[in-house]
Amino acid sequence: MSQKAIAVLTSGGDAPGMNAAFRAVVRAGISKGMKVYGIYRGYNGLLHGDSEENIQEMNLRSVSEIIGNGGTKLYTARCKEFEKPEVQRKAAEFLIKKGIDGLVVIGGDGSFRGARALSNTVLDIDGEKKSVKCIGVPGTIDNDIACSEYTVGFDTAMNTALQMIDRIRDTAQSHDRCSVVQVMGRHCGDIALQTGIAVGATAILVPEVKYNIERDVITRIVKTQKTGKQHFIVVVAEGVGGVRDLAKYIEQRLGIEARATILGHVQRGGSPTLRDRVVASQMGYKAVELLDHDVTNRVVVMQNGKITDLDINDALNMERVFDEELYNIAMTISI
Ligand code: ADP
Ligand code: F6P
Repeated sequence: MSQKAIAVLTSGGDAPGMNAAFRAVVRAGISKGMKVYGIYRGYNGLLHGDSEENIQEMNLRSVSEIIGNGGTKLYTARCKEFEKPEVQRKAAEFLIKKGIDGLVVIGGDGSFRGARALSNTVLDIDGEKKSVKCIGVPGTIDNDIACSEYTVGFDTAMNTALQMIDRIRDTAQSHDRCSVVQVMGRHCGDIALQTGIAVGATAILVPEVKYNIERDVITRIVKTQKTGKQHFIVVVAEGVGGVRDLAKYIEQRLGIEARATILGHVQRGGSPTLRDRVVASQMGYKAVELLDHDVTNRVVVMQNGKITDLDINDALNMERVFDEELYNIAMTISI
């Protein structure tokens, strides 16, 4: 039997720990006797030809000294045209002609949709039906992938946000101010909820919970103020937004000086935490194990703390469940 060849790419928003997952795929693949290729700049790399800029064969040392690096050494990109079937065919043809029959896609659920489309693209090559086996590995700081209770990058992003808000608290406290801080999470309030609890935020606004400014912000600040507190932190998820207007409203309504801070992309960078390095290593390894068993259209996930895998269709049909219990705990104790 000919030597198996697989490839790996990172796609969508980068996340700390993507390098650890990439490293695990390369090392696990080589240890199982496979050729392993790195594809640069997500799905774009598949569309722009067989050059060193787009694809390179990896060896054990190609991934040395990267486990602690933020960002992604494979670079990442968004590639709108990959949604077109003719473009997916071109990508499948490129991989198959290079002898690559397995692909690990590290990214979010958009990237998984691309992986599903690619693996469902069957080509007739010299009378033989061929396709590329694809496996998804969840990598995004938002933790917004329904099928997995954890996504690579989340822990690092939360800890970065935590450190930043702790600093903001120092200055808010010194001035008796209210600081309104926006953290990332376009559709998902997990970063806001977790960091909000960890910094003792007086109010936390997330896209999953319908809010009312008077009830969920103003009344909470007033109640806390009455017990002697003179500075306040309000954590707002990006999906709720409006932090500058909210700070102005708090100032006008309560006469408390307020400042707004948008943390932004600082949360996407930095050296991955131990948790992200370890989970990424486990998930990358699992993806290679699946390809080694000729499995396709699966997503590596964490369920009940264990690394396992799910059918990609089932995974993409799942709906995220927001942790309301944790939200209620936060609302009760952050006063
Ligand atoms: P994430 O993977 O973080 O969710 P995006 O939603 O931006 O990020 O998706 C990343 C990339 O995945 C897109 O730029 C596109 O190349 C590919 N992609 C997303 N949705 C689809 C789809 N329905 N079909 C094919 N490719 C897709
Ligand atoms: O990685 C996820 C995320 O950080 C979202 O929270 C945010 O909305 C988005 O990516 C921004 O990504 P970009 O600036 O790369 O478009």
